[in-house]
Amino acid sequence: MKEKNELTEEKYISSDQDTLKDESRIVSPERTGYDTYSLRPRLLSEYIGQDNIKERLKLSIQASKMRSEQLDHILLAGPPGLGKTTLATIVANELNASIHITSGPILEKQGDLAAILTNLEYGDVLFIDEIHRMNRSVEEILYSAMEDYQIDIMIGKGPAAKSIRVELQPFTLVGATTRSGLLTSPLRNRFGMIFEMTFYSEKELQLIISRAAEVMGIRIQEDASSSLAKRARGTPRIAIRLLKRVRDLSTVKGKEEIDISTVEEVMNLLRIDEIGLDEMDRKLLRIIIETYKGGPVGLKALSASIGVTEDTISEVYEPFLVQCGFIARTARGRIATEKAYKYFGLSKTLGGLFDDPFAR
Ligand code: ADE
Repeated sequence: MKEKNELTEEKYISSDQDTLKDESRIVSPERTGYDTYSLRPRLLSEYIGQDNIKERLKLSIQASKMRSEQLDHILLAGPPGLGKTTLATIVANELNASIHITSGPILEKQGDLAAILTNLEYGDVLFIDEIHRMNRSVEEILYSAMEDYQIDIMIGKGPAAKSIRVELQPFTLVGATTRSGLLTSPLRNRFGMIFEMTFYSEKELQLIISRAAEVMGIRIQEDASSSLAKRARGTPRIAIRLLKRVRDLSTVKGKEEIDISTVEEVMNLLRIDEIGLDEMDRKLLRIIIETYKGGPVGLKALSASIGVTEDTISEVYEPFLVQCGFIARTARGRIATEKAYKYFGLSKTLGGLFDDPFAR
């Protein structure tokens, strides 16, 4: 039996998904390695936010333990940085099971996934990140694995090829996706629980920041953690990354506690404003307003103008800008809202823009 909480990273290496990562950007919710692992909560009771998901998970975990049955497969959907990997690890911890971590794009051949599945031990949790990016032939062997804990593997090629059936140990699949709409229905239908994760409130982010500060052994004043929470774009991963940068200056200045002036100094340095927008967000909004007269503009055109992939725009930048009400998605493309114009001290009028002396 493997040790509890063992983290088995099967092949957690990046792939062509690298184009999606924007590690130079401090408010990017993209992962920059397991830097926050030690700060991550290990149990449901330590996890802040996503209350409805937590309650439903707690109930199902308890029931599966009482019945000594395998927990149903779980799909976690939502923008990056909201804690999908953390929740998967917590599920494994709560089940006293080992977790194996992999991701859709790196499972290139059926054999890659088959090797992982056949190595699972009784009750293990398999976490597949970016599950919507798995190729179709690999996805197909997941169907019977999820449904009946068995897979059919083709041995050999041509007329001599034959299929053999391999029995698997019961396991729970936790799939994560930033694009639940891209999941095929056969895959989606095999999940017993589908959770849409949402951005965290400021209050929750402030609690997460305070908890992380405590784990790091530093103190942070109330107004400082509140200001950081406001700039964290509803995303714990960003909150913690910002906290670390503020801690750097606090250390260098020899301060005992992180205070608001240190937060403000670092945010100015990083060009992050009071609501968490950075230069890239402002560039995106400006291009829609100035180059495309407020839109609608298609993703392709935006991607070409800004120089980042369409996926990065729609999965990384846009969700928060839409949530804040700066961008609206319409059938004909993206449009900048009145609020976006106001943010720049402009006013939206038909066919153009003018300076509005009363705005902002
Ligand atoms: N650290 C990162 N995300 C967290 C969460 N949701 N709760 C507690 N600590 C966290």
